Amino acid sequence: MSREVVCRASPSLALVKYWGKKPGRGNRPATPSLAVTLGGITTETRVRLAPAHGHTDTVVLNGQTQPPERFRPFFESLRRRVRRRSSAQGDLPFFDVDSRNDFPSAAGLASSSSGFAALALGCSRAAGLELSVRELSALARLGSASAARSLFGGFTLLPAGGRSARQLHPPQHWPELRILVVVVSEQAKPISSRRAMEATRGSSPYYRAWLRDAAALLPRALEALRRRDLEALGEAALVSYSRMHAAMIAAGPPVLYWLPGTVAAIHECRRLRAEGIGAWETLDAGPQVKILCLAPDVAAIAERLRRLPELGPSVRLLEARPGEGPVCGVTGE
Ligand code: DP6
Repeated sequence: MSREVVCRASPSLALVKYWGKKPGRGNRPATPSLAVTLGGITTETRVRLAPAHGHTDTVVLNGQTQPPERFRPFFESLRRRVRRRSSAQGDLPFFDVDSRNDFPSAAGLASSSSGFAALALGCSRAAGLELSVRELSALARLGSASAARSLFGGFTLLPAGGRSARQLHPPQHWPELRILVVVVSEQAKPISSRRAMEATRGSSPYYRAWLRDAAALLPRALEALRRRDLEALGEAALVSYSRMHAAMIAAGPPVLYWLPGTVAAIHECRRLRAEGIGAWETLDAGPQVKILCLAPDVAAIAERLRRLPELGPSVRLLEARPGEGPVCGVTGE
């Protein structure tokens, strides 16, 4: 049996959003982002070294072969690292990757964050590279900037222009926090976050205002998180996603991910808060709604969502909590 590296990582949900890139190459974020790693939701990635003479990397996600362009900067950077670190003049490694998500992919559930985090860890191990977690975070960022955060458990920060993310608090900082993911649609989103971000930067008159405001919002959110103040953190998260979506809706043509179920869930959270139940929604590049709340309120919130005609009793709800960073094992040795 040949050697296989198996890694598991969880998606990174931003409370303060990354939206927009610094000019130039390297996929550096234009805004700082503050996030929580979603324990209970997982990407599992299996990596084997490919035959060197083929000179190709293959990535299969949920049974579908992925277009190579999206992965090229990542694999090229990884091979540069191998070349720098190894004294041997042998062949550079190529990779066969098989990855699965236990949640809908490409539907705005940050699957690229857990995907590239697991890939960075899995491929570097398969190539025999010992990278620090900061180096792994920087490598994952080349695939997807949100993935830089998924290399860490708990609560993470990726600064504006940052090369790598860092952990601010471990998951145990806030064990009662829950994130209820409302799967409004199982379909892949109509436009990738990367393209939508580019459209916002290129054509939204609100993009500059978004960048200014995102930086100003961060200290409030950091302080609320430090104090475990759900209301203050929820308010910051609400403002962050609303302004991010306002900027993208103002692009030409507009980028609108919201579906009727999205809007219905937003209104229900508002009603719940008016009744004194802490349910603070946030949205990413897709129609799904993620609700920050505390463990004792999850059942009541879920019950109310199931009663909405736009969602229905069979709506898929995923319950996540602050989770650990990625784990990795090796088989076939
Ligand atoms: C809305 O990390 O998927 O989820 O770096 O182009 O791959 P690329 O973008 P990606 O964008 C995530 C955007 C977001 C907000 C966030 O996670 O901070």
